[in-house]
Amino acid sequence: MATEVLHQTDQGEAERRAAFFAHIAAGGKVEATDWMPDDYRRQVLKFVEMHANSELMGVLPEREWILRAPTLKRKLALTAKVQDEVGHAQLLYRVAEDLGKSREEMWRDLLAGKTKFHNVFHYPTETWGDVGIIAWLIDAAAIVAQQALRGSSYGPYARTMQKICWEESVHIMHGRDIVLTLVNGTPKQRAMVQDALDRWWAPIMQMHGFRTPPEKDKDLAWRIKAKSNEELRQEFLAIYVPRILEIGLTIPDPELRYDEEAKRWRYTEPDWDELTRVVTGHGPKSAERLQFRQIHYADTAWVRDVILGEGPGALAAD
Ligand SMILES: [Fe+2]
Ligand SMILES: [Fe+2]
Repeated sequence: MATEVLHQTDQGEAERRAAFFAHIAAGGKVEATDWMPDDYRRQVLKFVEMHANSELMGVLPEREWILRAPTLKRKLALTAKVQDEVGHAQLLYRVAEDLGKSREEMWRDLLAGKTKFHNVFHYPTETWGDVGIIAWLIDAAAIVAQQALRGSSYGPYARTMQKICWEESVHIMHGRDIVLTLVNGTPKQRAMVQDALDRWWAPIMQMHGFRTPPEKDKDLAWRIKAKSNEELRQEFLAIYVPRILEIGLTIPDPELRYDEEAKRWRYTEPDWDELTRVVTGHGPKSAERLQFRQIHYADTAWVRDVILGEGPGALAAD
């Protein structure tokens, strides 16, 4: 009897899973309060948490330039962008929290180097040219991925992406304006932005990730994301290579060309070992940026104590 009940329960569970995956395969959405298999929940959480971490860590390379921005207008625009990115992190941590991991835990894992953030935020921002290239091309590479995420099977994530994408499109305009000003400036300014592009091109080409075959990509199979890494890279190249060349910049890849027959962009194979090294915390700025966050987290503990009403700094209830 017991075996029979167990068998029936197992079968019920299997059917429930099958119905769930059929629902998402057919384009259905999943809400935070819906039943979902544990592996789906874990996978969405991991994906959204990494995205949230990336928005948060992504402000550090730009933040360094707020005080050095060349004009008041640039300073205001860069400050607004940094605020937007922190806001994106807030929205995404909320989405992730609903999946069962507390914000505190996500912070601890990020600060301990246990969870990841995007490769591009592990590199230094050496000149004002870098600020333009980051806001123009890194935000562009990100928006290609984020626009596709509006079709995510996880409803709260898909909806959050709509607001984020709108703001990202403004970041791209801000970045393009900086780059255009530099390319139309003095030879030194032009050289500065070309140098920035030369240094950022490799990380940008790695940014969408490995060419994982779609059938082996769980995020894709479960429609947590709607397009494969290579599809996103191809889309980015199709839109931005002409725009980069149009303003007279040179792309530092002699192999880069559109293959008419194969209907795809060909490029020098990105250094995937570098990508692995960098996202596992061994990039040129990984340690320094995490350390900055650790110091900042300790420095602001009293604010959390007071606001959350916990710990020694809490205000008395009366
Ligand atoms: Fe963002
Ligand atoms: Fe952005």
